[in-house]
Amino acid sequence: MVKICCIGAGYVGGPTMAVIALKCPKITVSVVDISSPRINAWNSDQLPIYEPGLEEVVKKCRGVNLFFSTDVEKHVSEADIVFVSVNTPTKTQGLGAGKAADLTYWESAARMIADVSKSDKIVVEKSTVPVKTAEAIEKILTHNAKGINFQILSNPEFLAEGTAINDLYNPDRVLIGGRETPEGKKAVQTLKDVYAQWVPVDRIICTNLWSAELSKLAANAFLAQRISSVNAMSALCEATGADVSQVSHAVGMDSRIGPKFLNASVGFGGSCFQKDILNLIYICECNGLPEVANYWKQVVKVNDYQKCRFVNRIVSSMFNTVSNKKIAILGFAFKKDTGDTRETPAIDVCNGLLGDKAMLSIYDPEVSEEQIRRDLSMKKYEWDHPRHLQPISPTDIKQVEVTSDAYKATKDSHGVCILTEWDEFRNLDYKKIFDNMQKPAFVFDGRNVVDTEELRKIGFIVYSIGKPLDAWLKDMPAVA
Ligand code: NAI
Repeated sequence: MVKICCIGAGYVGGPTMAVIALKCPKITVSVVDISSPRINAWNSDQLPIYEPGLEEVVKKCRGVNLFFSTDVEKHVSEADIVFVSVNTPTKTQGLGAGKAADLTYWESAARMIADVSKSDKIVVEKSTVPVKTAEAIEKILTHNAKGINFQILSNPEFLAEGTAINDLYNPDRVLIGGRETPEGKKAVQTLKDVYAQWVPVDRIICTNLWSAELSKLAANAFLAQRISSVNAMSALCEATGADVSQVSHAVGMDSRIGPKFLNASVGFGGSCFQKDILNLIYICECNGLPEVANYWKQVVKVNDYQKCRFVNRIVSSMFNTVSNKKIAILGFAFKKDTGDTRETPAIDVCNGLLGDKAMLSIYDPEVSEEQIRRDLSMKKYEWDHPRHLQPISPTDIKQVEVTSDAYKATKDSHGVCILTEWDEFRNLDYKKIFDNMQKPAFVFDGRNVVDTEELRKIGFIVYSIGKPLDAWLKDMPAVA
């Protein structure tokens, strides 16, 4: 019976292994992590991450052929295939700080695999890593190998949070990169056989190692670039009176472009896009390609511009000051159907408003108060380290309250900012909200979820990204 072990029980390791266990009942899957609170949560009724459909899969397999454990060494030593799905944060210090990937966790996982292994293993890169990481990992493993044969594969994960289970059931493609030697090809085939138990073989692509590593960075860069492109258009729409929804609909009807990922918003977030593009930029610079690096840099710059523009719209439309004004923040997760707040635009928007001394009342259906307070008090990139290495307790930010529903958050507020496209924000009783707010009452829709005209009829002054401006906002500068 094949034994799989995955190092890292996070947003990728947990769901991916749960689906492998479900689809491959003859394989034993162990997910290990250095964080005992995380493993305890995976073994409890309250899973550490929210993901539609995940709980059902875990409940079906846990204790049968899916196990969560902190005994990293035991499970790694027993496994035939070891997936590594640990954090790969942006470096904060030293060479490449602010851009390059910090491979500390990866390297320590590789050294541990070499230390505890007593039999041949296939080691699979699941984390998103810089191109040529496999080569470095291979060196660590083979220099410490004690006669054991390690084959390194790159198998980047393309799931999207919020739809992870469905993405894992029906992936657009599974990508496996390996060495083009007989042993390398055999290892690729072994992993292909695992996926082929539920993924059509024509969707399993096999490439060389570097193509697989670079494809993941390239895919995230292309996706983020679409968002920055439509967001750049949204600023032009506001300046000219065009409607960005109409523009992106017309553009997306072109079959060469396609309609997905063309929604204007307050900006992209999530743990991957910015980190992976910064990493790509660094790789381009290291390879003497400054023009290519600068091209991708602009994608991140436009994203920052969009968040900044949104904050400035809020402040400038409220008479150039939000000092001591209550502002409701609806949504804190980086997108709907996840509780993940890593790099969520809400952090920058809230910090921007706090910098102008606003009083914030925040509501998100899936994000805890503790998480929100941590996020607002953490330094850049601290969030992407294992939990036990992050600051212990969040500093209390007095200007922030976290509420249990949207009506409490908006009561007596001057403005409402919608920062996550949760479905429930489409169907709120906006008349009731309006009646309980200070006047003039503002709505700043960072996700284009509300019916702008309906809200204007109620009496709100509404700003929706990339839509024709309210008369109130027309003379206010978008960027101070
Ligand atoms: P995560 O932070 O949720 O999980 C990583 C886990 O690894 C943590 O629980 C941490 O405690 C553990 N860990 C770190 N070092 C360890 C070690 N030496 N031994 C055992 N456990 C260790 O991160 P997430 O989101 O699962 O991402 C993992 C990788 O997958 C990253 O490289 C990311 O870029 C990539 N990725 C993430 C996607 C996402 O949607 N979150 C999608 C595709 C790829």
